[in-house]
Amino acid sequence: MAVGIKVFAPASVANVACGYDVLGFALEEPGDEIVITKVDKKGLRITKITGGKLPYDPLKNTAGFAALKVLEHLEYDGGLEMEIHKKMPFGSGLGSSAASAVAGAMAVNEVLNKPLTKQELLPFAVLGEQIADGAYHADNVAPSLLGGMVLIRDTQTLDFHKVYIPDGLYVVVIHPHIEILTKDSRGILKTEVSLADHIKQSANLAGLMLGMQNSNFELIKNSLEDIIIEPQRAHLIPHFYDIKNAALTNGALGCSISGAGPSIFALCDSTIIAENVAIQMEKVLLDQKISCTIYKSRINNEGAILC
Ligand code: HSE
Repeated sequence: MAVGIKVFAPASVANVACGYDVLGFALEEPGDEIVITKVDKKGLRITKITGGKLPYDPLKNTAGFAALKVLEHLEYDGGLEMEIHKKMPFGSGLGSSAASAVAGAMAVNEVLNKPLTKQELLPFAVLGEQIADGAYHADNVAPSLLGGMVLIRDTQTLDFHKVYIPDGLYVVVIHPHIEILTKDSRGILKTEVSLADHIKQSANLAGLMLGMQNSNFELIKNSLEDIIIEPQRAHLIPHFYDIKNAALTNGALGCSISGAGPSIFALCDSTIIAENVAIQMEKVLLDQKISCTIYKSRINNEGAILC
């Protein structure tokens, strides 16, 4: 019997407060796993899905679609079987569909002995994720694939740049157990921004990039502010401002919605602060009898890996 290869692609935090649709970073966990095996029967088939209900038709599945796009590009006409093991929640704001798309693209590339680089896989993974929310953006896919924090300067050409990660930066992510569909969370956003808001938001994004580059935690702290998207989405997340307040008053550098929500992330400049911030953020939800999961890690610099 043929032996499959297994790929892991991590969750990610998109937007990072002031970088809506253009900035994201990878987490160490959770993430999705895909196993792919060469078989005689031609074509790509999804044979097993665990951890969630998803379509078995590769054309309707983010991992399957991304894999098909890679195979089409490589003009591969052999047979492959794919198993998808969802190890992260849907509609969580943690880039679940992006992780699947990344793992799908990477897994077929690995089983065919890596004809493409990770960078070359990016457009195929972005097309895969597009199946989920209908929008073309790479702020989850790029960090999940490439690791680290990634700025996508131009989404159409996928001109991306990895951002330097200062030593001592820790992430806390809290996932309240409610589901928000990215499509809905995008649908409520106004399509126009005032000039005053644009000036403030672009100054914050530039400040965040400089703060990261120069390990300037004070500048990172002052720049981690989203005055455009967060105020429009906060009402979707129960007790959002109380959770944010708990993070900031306990020493987090900044705190905002992870991607389209409901997860919330905080960046901290020490593990001790991160531990306490996690406890205080969780307490707000537990006091309200809302269950949640907490993730604490450094920014994951590797992205998707062969297991
Ligand atoms: N930038 C996207 C959003 C990430 O906030 O809608 C979610 O996929």
